[in-house]
Amino acid sequence: MTAVTGLTRVLSVVGARPNFVKLAAVAHALRRRADVDHIVVHTGQHYDSAMSGSFFGDLDIAPPTTNLEVGSDTHAKQTAAAMQRLEPVLERVAPDWVLVYGDVNSTVAAALVAVKLGLKVAHVEAGLRSRDRTMPEEHNRVVTDHLADLLFAPSRDAIITLRAEGIAADRIAFVGNVMIDTLIRLRPAARALGTARRLGLDEGGYVLVTLHRPGNVDDPDVLRALCEALAGLARTRPVVFPAHPRTRARLEAPGLAHRLGGVRLLDPVPYLEMLDLTESAALVLTDSGGVQEETTFLGIPCLTVRPNTERPVTVTEGSNQLVNATPEAILAAASNGVRRHVTQIERWDGRAGERIVAVLCDGARFA
Ligand code: UD1
Repeated sequence: MTAVTGLTRVLSVVGARPNFVKLAAVAHALRRRADVDHIVVHTGQHYDSAMSGSFFGDLDIAPPTTNLEVGSDTHAKQTAAAMQRLEPVLERVAPDWVLVYGDVNSTVAAALVAVKLGLKVAHVEAGLRSRDRTMPEEHNRVVTDHLADLLFAPSRDAIITLRAEGIAADRIAFVGNVMIDTLIRLRPAARALGTARRLGLDEGGYVLVTLHRPGNVDDPDVLRALCEALAGLARTRPVVFPAHPRTRARLEAPGLAHRLGGVRLLDPVPYLEMLDLTESAALVLTDSGGVQEETTFLGIPCLTVRPNTERPVTVTEGSNQLVNATPEAILAAASNGVRRHVTQIERWDGRAGERIVAVLCDGARFA
């Protein structure tokens, strides 16, 4: 295609909420290139307006041209449906590069289809490892990294991991963190919203909660313990909890909702509101990957309810702390206070998207 039109054709595949935030950084950088045709395909893994549609306006990027409407299902069915529906699209478009983002089922589906068609694949956010084989995302990360021709690493630890797994140095580019690009670009717009005030919350006076990992919400005993922990936190200050649909459904099990005490449950909030709520929080309790990074960049204390993290710099250099899913552990960590400091992590500087485009289009190297 390049030879005929003179344009480099880049096709991004996204499917789930965190993908859109990462895509936004790359789409913005690509927008400045007249020599690139950027096509965005949405698998439809996430489909509710609050989980998908609302994001493109907030992120100031064009909505995807194609939505494959894969929806929710078991891992195998969701991944297989994404592969089946992507294949004819990738075949028809025949892009110079297929870009895949993060670690969701749509990521690995797209990488597999593309390599089997002989298309070049670049993985944005490569080299992250929790080393926890019970996490669906971990399978997706390992497989995608080993399929991809080009790996865009967000941090130095990711490069060390990829090299240790035998991936050649010339396939890896240390570009920085795309999630932070989007945060830096949209932070002023987010702050202008005054979301905390609108919700009747004091700046710096509440706890913000997000929980959606199967390991936390699918086991009723773990979820019950987490509800008790949140109710305990809510006895001393307001707790707001924008709940993922998976979590909301699990909370509807008999006997769980009342354990949440004074916790304020919200529907999932759009990107800008979430960013604003994060920056105004006294403390964030989460199991999300992106939130660990955003709180580190902003210097907001973060308790991550997981036994491990694929983003170790947020713990070693940032404001993140891992905590067990028990009321005792969570309440103790919250009252001990978590470090609050703003750390400048190498190449988390708002320019990761720009570096990705320089590698893809100009052959730049970032070691
Ligand atoms: C997926 C990713 C996870 C990521 C998360 C961000 C995988 C394996 N997991 O998890 O890494 O952190 O997205 O949100 O890809 N649902 C809706 N509406 C939607 C989407 C989902 O109601 O728009 C509900 C459905 O009941 C569905 C459940 O949420 O069964 C789970 O959705 P799914 O896409 O399978 O995984 P997530 O938990 O969202």
